[in-house]
Amino acid sequence: MKKDTFTFTNNKTNESYEFDILEGTRGPSVVDISTFYKKTGMFTYDVGYTSTASCRSDITFIDGEKGELLYRGVAIEELAENHTYLETCYLLLNGNLPTSEELLDFDLELRHRSFIDENLKHLINSFPDRAHPMSILASGVSALSSFYYEHLEDTNEDMRQEMARRIIAKIPTIAAFSYRKSLGIPEIYPDIDRSFTENFLYMMRAYPGGKMKRTKDGSNEIKEIEVKALDAIFTLHADHEQNASTTTVRTVGSTGAHPYVAISAGISALWGRAHGGANESVIAQLEMIGDVKNVDKFIERAKDPNDNFRLMGFGHRVYKNFDPRARALKKLQDQLKDELNLDSKLMEIASKIEEIALKDEYFIKRKLYPNIDFYSGVILTALKIDRPMFTPIFVIGRTVGWVTQLMELQQSSEFKITRPRQLYIGK
Ligand code: SDX
Repeated sequence: MKKDTFTFTNNKTNESYEFDILEGTRGPSVVDISTFYKKTGMFTYDVGYTSTASCRSDITFIDGEKGELLYRGVAIEELAENHTYLETCYLLLNGNLPTSEELLDFDLELRHRSFIDENLKHLINSFPDRAHPMSILASGVSALSSFYYEHLEDTNEDMRQEMARRIIAKIPTIAAFSYRKSLGIPEIYPDIDRSFTENFLYMMRAYPGGKMKRTKDGSNEIKEIEVKALDAIFTLHADHEQNASTTTVRTVGSTGAHPYVAISAGISALWGRAHGGANESVIAQLEMIGDVKNVDKFIERAKDPNDNFRLMGFGHRVYKNFDPRARALKKLQDQLKDELNLDSKLMEIASKIEEIALKDEYFIKRKLYPNIDFYSGVILTALKIDRPMFTPIFVIGRTVGWVTQLMELQQSSEFKITRPRQLYIGK
C-alpha cells in the first residue's frame, strides 16, 4: 500500500521533495526526514527539538493538550492512586503490571540488591561535607560502572533486566548515603525487612546503629501515610517520554557507553533548575516571596521580559494544560494536609500564585500551568526531607524510566549514534 507522504517545495529552485509520513498508535504523526539532507543538501533547524521526534517508543505517552500521561498505556492517576511504585517499575520494565507472585520476586530481588560495595561508600565519604547530594549521586552512579563493568556488554534480556534492577535498587542507598554524608553522620545500611520506600525513609532518618527515634506513644517514627505519600511521588516521577534528561541518557547510550554512566549523565541533566532542579527552586522561591501579599509583585516580575525571574514550577514544554502529575500531587496534598503537618504558609502562597497566574492573560496566552515540581516540594517538606534531597528523590523515581528508555534504545532496529548538525555562522 502506498505510504502517505509530505512534500517540501523549495520556492527558490521550485524543486519538490517527498518524505514518508509515519503514523503512531496515538499522538501526532511524524514526517520521516532522515533523508532530508541527502535529498535537499539542506538541514532542518529546530533548537531544543520542539518539533522533533527522536525515536519510536512504546513506553510513555503524553497528550500535552489534554494533560494526559500513560505508562505502557496505563493512566498515571490509576497508578498513583491504586498501585505501588514497585508495581509501576515492573510495568515500565516489562510492559505489564506484575502478578502478586511476580511482584513478590521483584520486591525481594530489589531488597537483596540494595547494598553497595564498601569501596563505593568510601568514595561517597571522600566528598566535602558541603557537597550537594546531586553531585555525589551523579559521581556515585558513574562509579557504579566500575563495580559492574560486565554490563557494558549486555547481550541478552536477562542481563539487561539484571542491570536495570541493580541500579533501581542501589540508587536510594547511594542517595541516602549522600544525604547522611552531607550531615556528617554515619550512613545507615538498607534494612531488607522494609519495603522499597519505607527503607529509603529509614536510611534517611534512623539514628547511628539503626534505631528509630523514640516517640512518646512508642510508635514507629515512619508513618504509613508518609510511606504512601513518598511512594506516590516516586510513581509520578517514574518516566516522562523524551525529556531533557532522558534524551541525555539516550544520547550517551547511543555511543555504546556503559549504561550506568548514561544514567549518571541523566542525573546531571536533571539537576538543572529548568528541569528536575525546579522542585528545590520552588520552595526557595515560595520562601523568598515570604507572604501572600508579595505574590502580585513576583507575578509581575515573572511577566517582565526584561527580568529573567521565572515562576519555578510553572510552564512545560509539552503540557499546555494542567500537568496530570501536578493534579495528582495537589489531590495528595489535600489528603495529607490533616495527617501530615503541611506548611500552611507555603501552601497559602502557592495557592495564591496558582489562583492569580491561572487568570492572568500572560500565563493563559502562553499556556503556562503548574507542573509536577510546583507541588512536590510542599509534600517533601512535610515529610521532613531537606531541600537538597528534593532532586535526588526525583532521581530515585526517574531511574526506572531512564533505564527502560535506554534498554528500548539498545534493542531498537533503528539504533544510531546521536549526531545532529548545525547552521554555521562563523568565519
Ligand atoms: C520538568 O520535559 C519534561 O517532561 C520535564 C519534566 C519531566 O518529568 O521530565 O516534566 C520535569 O522539568 C518540569 C519543568 C520544571 N521547570 C520549571 O518549573 C522551571 C520554570 N519553567 C520554565 O523555565 C519553562 O516553562 C520550561 C523550561 C519548563 C519550558 O520552557 P519552554 O517550553 O522552552 O518554553 P519557553 O522557555 O520557550 O517559554 C515560552 C514562553 C516564554 O515567553 P515569551 O518569550 O514567548 O514571551 O513562556 C514564558 C517564556 O518567557 N515562560 C515563563 C515560564 N515558563 C515559560 N514565564 C514565566 N514563568 C515561567 N515559569
